[in-house]
Amino acid sequence: MSETGADLQTLDVARAREETPGCANVIHFNNAGASLMPRPVFDTVREHLSLESTIGAYEAEDRAQSALGRVYDSLAALLGAHRDEIAVIENATHAWDMAFYSLHFDPGDRILTSSVEYASNYISFLQVARRTGAIIEPIPSDAYGRLSVEALEEMIDPRVKLIAVTYVPTNGGLVNPARAVGAVARRSGIPYLIDACQAVGQMPVDVGDLDCDMLSGTGRKFLRGPRGIGFLYVKREFMEGLEPPFLDMHAATWVARDKYEVRPDARRFENWEYNVASKLGLGKAVDYAMGWGIEAIWQRAWGLAAMLRRALTEMPGVTVHDLGVEKCAIVTFTKKGRDPEGIKNSLSEKGINVTVTTTTSTRLDMDERGLTAMVRASIHYYNTEEEIERFCAAL
Ligand SMILES: Cc1ncc(COP(=O)(O)O)c(C=O)c1O
Repeated sequence: MSETGADLQTLDVARAREETPGCANVIHFNNAGASLMPRPVFDTVREHLSLESTIGAYEAEDRAQSALGRVYDSLAALLGAHRDEIAVIENATHAWDMAFYSLHFDPGDRILTSSVEYASNYISFLQVARRTGAIIEPIPSDAYGRLSVEALEEMIDPRVKLIAVTYVPTNGGLVNPARAVGAVARRSGIPYLIDACQAVGQMPVDVGDLDCDMLSGTGRKFLRGPRGIGFLYVKREFMEGLEPPFLDMHAATWVARDKYEVRPDARRFENWEYNVASKLGLGKAVDYAMGWGIEAIWQRAWGLAAMLRRALTEMPGVTVHDLGVEKCAIVTFTKKGRDPEGIKNSLSEKGINVTVTTTTSTRLDMDERGLTAMVRASIHYYNTEEEIERFCAAL
């Protein structure tokens, strides 16, 4: 057992690494950016692209029909949803947008959100606020830096038309109490949208448990899928009466000269043209993650991150910045006298991948904490204790 109580050895790490060719080249602590694809996912994408070039792309898609159908079953199983509640969309931002821009706001309507909301979401709030006169209100944080559920409860009134919260932010190990927020939203009858982009794949995410109406995610981060593919969950009952901001001939059918009918399922949020290979790769990535077991992935990834956090805390001149009580697989820090971008570059020269998170991604939180940039090291289950030691030595 690790110092956090997590059992780090519940997975066959040697097999996970053997199935991850990138492990031979780099210490990849950028799993929140884009994880290293495991071989079965890469093979799925490559084989479909190869089929496209061999027999024609439409023809290849025809052959892949049943596998494409199973992608919805896989995502539904991962999220505890029904397959008709899942849309596969080119990225998490667009998935989130399709949900958010489907909602209607009048002047004075209130949108409650988290102080760690992702820039793209917040820019959309600002645009809609400008267009409609809706008001954006960040929910205050508690003493640990989590969204305060108590403060949220006090903010509820009939003018609140949406609660939109980021589960795990782009800029740190914080895990917001998304489930408790769901209970408030349900009691108050307010639509609830979760950005779970950084959460899915590193921890259990169950839409029933979270009690949300809409939830967005992406393929390339902790799910270890390909780039350029994401997904949206929309609850069946909530979907009725929700018309996407854009419709095409996949989302709707042109049934008469002046009439169209919107699809009954969540695929109304998709478009007709899409990257078939990436979609198949996403399905494979979900199956692959579930093959390891999300609980086992969660235990190990969070346990390793706790180990790294502890080592960094003991390092002179290093400050760890992760907020919250339970902390996830994302570790953020700064080092006195060193520019985060410079740290990233010198680690890169040693074959270690991290990224830098800056104010422009999560302005409210960064400004509040007086931060402009932090190094972000994001760990996954295929990383090792030895890699953490090498990382600390390099730092
Ligand atoms: C919290 C959060 N939401 C949304 C996104 C956007 O995801 P995508 O790039 O797939 O659109 C990110 C990406 O970093 C993120 O960290």
